[in-house]
Amino acid sequence: MKTMEKLISISDLRVGMFVRARTVSDRREGGARHYLEIVNGFSIGKTNRRARLTGRMHQTVEQNGGLLVSSEHQIERLRETGLAMLTIDTDKGTDLGYMEMPLTDPVRRPPPPGRLVHFDEELSRAQEARSVATDTLRVSLENVAAGRELDVASITRAGTVISESILRNVDAMVSLIRLKEHDAYSAMHSMNVCTLVTAMALHGGASAADLPIVAGAALLHDVGKTRIPLEILNKPGRFEPHEMAEMRQHAIHSGDIMRETGGFTAESVAIATQHHEMMDGSGYPLGLEGDAVHPYARLSAVADVYDALTAKRVYKPAMPMYQALLRIHRDKGSRFDEQAVDLFIRTLGLYPVGSLVQLNSKERAVVYQPNPRNSRKPTVSIYTLPNRRSRGAPLIVNLAVRSEAEGRTIESVLDPEREGVDVEGIIRETERRGEHTERRRR
Ligand SMILES: [Fe+2]
Repeated sequence: MKTMEKLISISDLRVGMFVRARTVSDRREGGARHYLEIVNGFSIGKTNRRARLTGRMHQTVEQNGGLLVSSEHQIERLRETGLAMLTIDTDKGTDLGYMEMPLTDPVRRPPPPGRLVHFDEELSRAQEARSVATDTLRVSLENVAAGRELDVASITRAGTVISESILRNVDAMVSLIRLKEHDAYSAMHSMNVCTLVTAMALHGGASAADLPIVAGAALLHDVGKTRIPLEILNKPGRFEPHEMAEMRQHAIHSGDIMRETGGFTAESVAIATQHHEMMDGSGYPLGLEGDAVHPYARLSAVADVYDALTAKRVYKPAMPMYQALLRIHRDKGSRFDEQAVDLFIRTLGLYPVGSLVQLNSKERAVVYQPNPRNSRKPTVSIYTLPNRRSRGAPLIVNLAVRSEAEGRTIESVLDPEREGVDVEGIIRETERRGEHTERRRR
């Protein structure tokens, strides 16, 4: 896959980068006005994302297929159009260079090891990257289903956007997989699997250059479902044996589509074709065993099962995250590769963001931010008093900071559905008016 094109957030645009763009001309009253139109740009809120071009700029843009950013003023003009994302060409201009960028607030203490920015600094960017990638995937799936060709370049760009967010702070993007929307299950599921696999690959030591390829392939792991007849794909009840056999071919179809399209590495194809293969040979469609399963496919197998377990479907309720984690752990070394499970636990932590917990103080809380240094002690949002009456405003407590925790630890994990607790509501409330403990003076 070519990675010279990257879809980036406009906040990361710098002088020296080459922005892919074309020109649009508007002829009126003799003279013509020329505008710059960003290729593959995503605007939020506004639909008009054109910037006026002066002088002979339009000729240069037309010739080069874009604009070499030469001043801060240009960046400002592009920002004013309401543009959120744009595509840069790293062959014609400088690269993102995420390593050198002063991304994090220098007044705060440095982010945890392996993170370039803090969780809360990345969260909104991760959300944006996630929605851009999900939209891209949704369009790609529709195209393939309609018999059109898969657009490798757009998938590559989506893989890049995801990887870059994961490289800045892996925990932010991972925390978003808890948000399950029911309407577009397949795109959402693929996005979640992609996030988990890319994060696991990062923790496993994959290079920054490999991550976009892994992410792109993981996004496409179920693309073969577009070749399954709709009456089987959407069947509400149980599958007949022949339907089951057909359904199980989707992994093979995914690989076929990727090979037919071209531009994918053997590794990418394996992530898709083998995502239902299990280490003990109990998987499908080929029943591969042990070393025959590609290391990256071992990651996608774990991620796929976890996301399926925690998803709410018409025929089954959502399994709470901690139960799904336990289930995966139980099959470590049998169905699942040991190292893959270790990477998976490292990715999610013991208490993923959104977990409902009871503290030893008998207060109830929702896990609000992970703690990569010690996953037993995340930051929680306490929303009840010890007697279970609700607090006025949620109290944000970092359990790893002694003066904040005041002896509190997590005692047990609860099932939000059974307890009738709206976890997302509590998280939103915490973002709006959560209070921090005052540091104790001594
Ligand atoms: Fe699948």
